[in-house]
Amino acid sequence: MNRRFGEAVDRIRDNQLRLVRVSSLFQAIIPFLGALSMIVTIAYGGYLTIRHTITLGNFVELTLYIRMMVAPLQSIGNVINTMQRSRASLERIGDLMAVEPDIRETEGARHRSLDEASISIRGLRFAYPDAERPSLRDISLDIAPGRTLGILGKTGSGKTTLVKLLLRAYDPPAGTVRIAGADIRDFTLESLRAQIAYVPQDGFLFSTTIRDNIAFYKRDTELPTIEKAARQAQIYGSIAELPESFDTRLGERGVTLSGGQRQRTGLARGLIKDAPVLIMDDSVSAVDAVTEKRIIDGIRKARKGKTTIIIAHRISALKHADEIVVMDEGRIVQRGKHGELLAQEGLYATLYAIQQEGGREDAEPTAR
Ligand SMILES: Nc1ncnc2c1ncn2[C@@H]1O[C@H](COP(=O)(O)OP(=O)(O)O)[C@@H](O)[C@H]1O
Ligand SMILES: [Mg+2]
Repeated sequence: MNRRFGEAVDRIRDNQLRLVRVSSLFQAIIPFLGALSMIVTIAYGGYLTIRHTITLGNFVELTLYIRMMVAPLQSIGNVINTMQRSRASLERIGDLMAVEPDIRETEGARHRSLDEASISIRGLRFAYPDAERPSLRDISLDIAPGRTLGILGKTGSGKTTLVKLLLRAYDPPAGTVRIAGADIRDFTLESLRAQIAYVPQDGFLFSTTIRDNIAFYKRDTELPTIEKAARQAQIYGSIAELPESFDTRLGERGVTLSGGQRQRTGLARGLIKDAPVLIMDDSVSAVDAVTEKRIIDGIRKARKGKTTIIIAHRISALKHADEIVVMDEGRIVQRGKHGELLAQEGLYATLYAIQQEGGREDAEPTAR
């Protein structure tokens, strides 16, 4: 992966250097030729006129012609320059299009519905390609349809890796991850990615309107639906205050949102999918405790009957889940409902005690 990236960067750099070399050459040569031809014309033409080989009229005519030729010559130079530039860009696009994705559609995969689908993970061990240690070990987990699973764990404990396998960002070993009874590889990539809404911690927002950012997965979404998702994500008020409301542009030439606002905009984008499976990967980490509670309450109501996975480092975000698993170094070290976990000695109760204490000052005591 690193090597492939390195090679690609080298290639782009070489192309750019070649482009700059050629275009600077042209930019220098064309005006130089123009000036040179003028000097030659005036010098030699002047000489011939003095010698009466040509008339003064011929001389003036000649210099005018030369003058007229300079501009078109320059244009030709510009066109060649632009062509070189375009060729370099085209090569770059070609390179990108030629990249083979690591995950490919399995033969015989078909579109399957995730409605009412159970998710079942058995003895899952997973290591990233080229990684020395596995990121997930001995994971067994069942999520009944319509239920909410909470995942708690320190940074690097494998939470993101686990849910990314459900999207087939990487392929789990055959038979370890099953959905609705079928191996996950028997689902087309499209059916997984269309029916699972994944909300990352820091989703990418494009330099376009807020409306288009939220409607990213469903371009033709009507404004009321967008507003509803924004309300659920508790970002409606902030957007309504902006000069052009939902038509306000974000990014370089637009407004800049705070981390928490960006996160909630990303959440609205995920909620608009109204997918059979929603995964919130630490996606309320940058919002305050009161707003977090409002979001979680809203989602519990809106997601009744649909499967939801909430990853968080704050217990308050997932304490209502039907089951909570605590992960540490790629393993599930504790599992149960909030009350059961509190009664056990372990990471959960420890974290809870720390967070209760800090909660009063609305701090975030856990390591991120
Ligand atoms: N793309 C990757 N390639 C190699 N190792 C990775 C990659 N992504 C994560 N890891 C490793 O896998 C482990 C689990 O990471 P992650 O699932 O992101 O943890 P969490 O989401 O709980 O913070 C970490 O040790 C991390 O360094
Ligand atoms: Mg993560």
